[in-house]
Amino acid sequence: MTAQPPLTALPAWKALAEHYQQMRQRHLRQLFADDPRRGERLTVEAAGLYLDYSKHRVTDVTLGLLLRLAEECGLARRIDAMFRGEKINVTEQRAALHVALRAPKHERMLVDGMDAVAEVHAVLDRMAAFCDEVRSGRWRGHTGRPIRNIINIGIGGSDLGPVMAYEALRHYSGRDMTFRFVSNVDATDLVEATRDLDPEETLFIVCSKTFTTIETLTNAHSARVWCLRKLGDERAVRQHFVAVSTNREGVATFGIDPANTFGFWDWVGGRYSMDSAIGLSTMLAIGPEHFRDMLGGFHAMDVHFRTAPFERNLPVIMGLLAVWYGDFFDAQTVAVLPYDQYLKRFPAYLQQLTMESNGKHTTLDGTRIDYQTGPILWGEPGTNGQHSFYQLIHQGTKLVPCDFIAFCRSLNPLDGHHDLLMANVFAQAEALAFGRTAGEVEAEGTPASLVPHRVFEGNRPSSTILAERLTPAILGSLVALYEHSVFTQGVIWNIDSFDQWGVELGKTLAQRIAGELRGSSAAADAHDSSTTALIRRYVGSRGSAR
Ligand code: F6P
Repeated sequence: MTAQPPLTALPAWKALAEHYQQMRQRHLRQLFADDPRRGERLTVEAAGLYLDYSKHRVTDVTLGLLLRLAEECGLARRIDAMFRGEKINVTEQRAALHVALRAPKHERMLVDGMDAVAEVHAVLDRMAAFCDEVRSGRWRGHTGRPIRNIINIGIGGSDLGPVMAYEALRHYSGRDMTFRFVSNVDATDLVEATRDLDPEETLFIVCSKTFTTIETLTNAHSARVWCLRKLGDERAVRQHFVAVSTNREGVATFGIDPANTFGFWDWVGGRYSMDSAIGLSTMLAIGPEHFRDMLGGFHAMDVHFRTAPFERNLPVIMGLLAVWYGDFFDAQTVAVLPYDQYLKRFPAYLQQLTMESNGKHTTLDGTRIDYQTGPILWGEPGTNGQHSFYQLIHQGTKLVPCDFIAFCRSLNPLDGHHDLLMANVFAQAEALAFGRTAGEVEAEGTPASLVPHRVFEGNRPSSTILAERLTPAILGSLVALYEHSVFTQGVIWNIDSFDQWGVELGKTLAQRIAGELRGSSAAADAHDSSTTALIRRYVGSRGSAR
């Protein structure tokens, strides 16, 4: 699987490099003028999402070459390998079978001879039963009070998915319960999340795939102290703490009842886990039926990704466009701009999904890479970003491809708001693509000295993703779209999109320094002079504050 010629030696890559020399000067104005139907032609629709990719700096030749590249990189074979549960996470020797999390009950997907789908549905049924208990008030706290507050404790994939989905689907959530998310080891996160809550009515979900993550375990222990300070009885942990993990032993050692533990599997990566039991807070918020609708949306996109021809395949097209800009135009970042307030945490969620997956410098067979891999992803909901960083996207010296995400119908229709919101999405994409020429600026009577400042060069690419309404199913489709686009990019770059060795060194050093800070002499001398001086300064300041 890994014996692939170097990416830059592939015929399609070389042809793209040559083709880029022609494309770098071509303007979107010209591309649209040449083909009056471009805006309808370069679109594709699946799983409730309409993608307009006409405002990209591509011609049919570009698209043909990108598709050839996908072929030469064996994308079809790799998609198949993922869906068949092969160990495509080669450095950890694991399958990456998150598609099994949303497969319908009757399907079978085997991992090491076990039917993953059957196991998934058994856990989903247990989650649903638990959520019904809590939501109905039948689940009682230690003193007999029903649960009104849910606090999810987790970090990375055990936090970003849950908090993003909660915010995104708030419209569908029970408003009689409070949901909070604690991730940072900074005590402020936990203290602020609990300060106005009553432990008698509070349930903690400790989410950790490994159940070894120091931030999560530290927060969980402090949450337990907070809880028991009022409830006074160790047995209260049983009613006030549940866990989601693959590490049952670790959970039991913490004192959480195995009966209140929801499992998942090593073939689910942390950043691909929001639709597993890690989504327990989501299910508590929106209920089991909406959660199943969300899984339905994920699955619809999975089917599309697996079966649609590449030239009509949303994730494939988006993935290939990312390669085109990152590797040929040298674009370093991509902005995701959701025009929906409920998606305010979506860019943060996608940061982990894309940057932890594709921020790699080594091919599958361990060769140092000499081309660009995953871009930096960032973004804010529209229209806020327009009054902040859009200046740079319109007139700065960097090329920033953008994804606009918008919905035809608002979930909160207040007179005039939605048309205005949508007018802004369309206007921004139009302005970025077509800009405003010096001639147009002059014709408006602008003083000559201001003309260069008021010119918009345009030719700044964007995708527009439109859906009817933000529903649980559409959220599922949207997340799966990005998951598979990330996978497509990883296949082209020949990297392992499912490991994350780059987080290890910082963790190891932090553990060592934490040990030193606990010791009386803070043995900082073993570090470089900068780190040593910083530690000394901190220890000195901490000492004098005591
Ligand atoms: O440090 C990175 C990471 O391993 C992520 O990949 C993961 O989502 C996060 O930490 C949390 O891990 P866990 O769910 O095991 O606590």
